[in-house]
Amino acid sequence: MPTIQISPTPDAVATAAAHQFVDLAQDAIEERGRFTVALSGGSTPKLLYHLLAQEPFRTQIEWQNVYLFWGDERYVPHDHPDSNYRMVCETLLDHVSLPTEHVFPVPTDQDPADAEATYTKYLTDTFGDAPTYSFDLVLLGMGDDGHTASLFPGTDVIDARQWVKVYEVDEAHGRRMTLTPTILNLARQVTVLVTGAGKAQRLAKVLGGERDPHRLPIQSIQPKTGEIMWFLDEAAATEIKA
Ligand code: 6PG
Repeated sequence: MPTIQISPTPDAVATAAAHQFVDLAQDAIEERGRFTVALSGGSTPKLLYHLLAQEPFRTQIEWQNVYLFWGDERYVPHDHPDSNYRMVCETLLDHVSLPTEHVFPVPTDQDPADAEATYTKYLTDTFGDAPTYSFDLVLLGMGDDGHTASLFPGTDVIDARQWVKVYEVDEAHGRRMTLTPTILNLARQVTVLVTGAGKAQRLAKVLGGERDPHRLPIQSIQPKTGEIMWFLDEAAATEIKA
């Protein structure tokens, strides 16, 4: 079993993750001079970003040394209501001072091949071509179907050797950009935030059932040498066997 922390409510999950974010940021900046993060969309990360923009968290982080990337993005303009970039701007970036050159939104105005190349270059400029480690922290959620980032069931994107993939998921989800397990699994720390009773059964299968990452893509997230930590609320954790 991976490391799991269960909190009573989604707010408590976000608070626990905010404490972890501060600790990791302080350690990374002290040791390596910067803190690199891949952000997730989704409801619980949104609560987390909102908390990080407020006291007591905001002033514990040296924001000028933080570098923000997106683990996945909907292929919409940056001001679109579905944009993960817009969500992070509204909850976090509008409230802290981060150099704009440390913020790497997905260039959704470019065609897929160009966007993949642009985003891959952002990453290789930051981590090099063959890093031992990539991000200091990758934040992820889990969809009801077992997807994470924009790695969806029934697609072959989890097998991609490239770091960045832009593809048409299906009619419902449209075109997405996602980072692939190849780069996500080089993170020093992966943190997964899952809340709500609606996810309880799927989560139990993900954590305790048979391994089938094409059906449950979040199972493809297994950091090579880094750590993975699951922050759950009680509702999501009800079906997990100890
Ligand atoms: C997104 C995501 C996606 C999300 C899950 C869980 O942009 O939507 O990155 O992978 O994390 O769908 O979302 P919830 O936490 O809102 O259920």
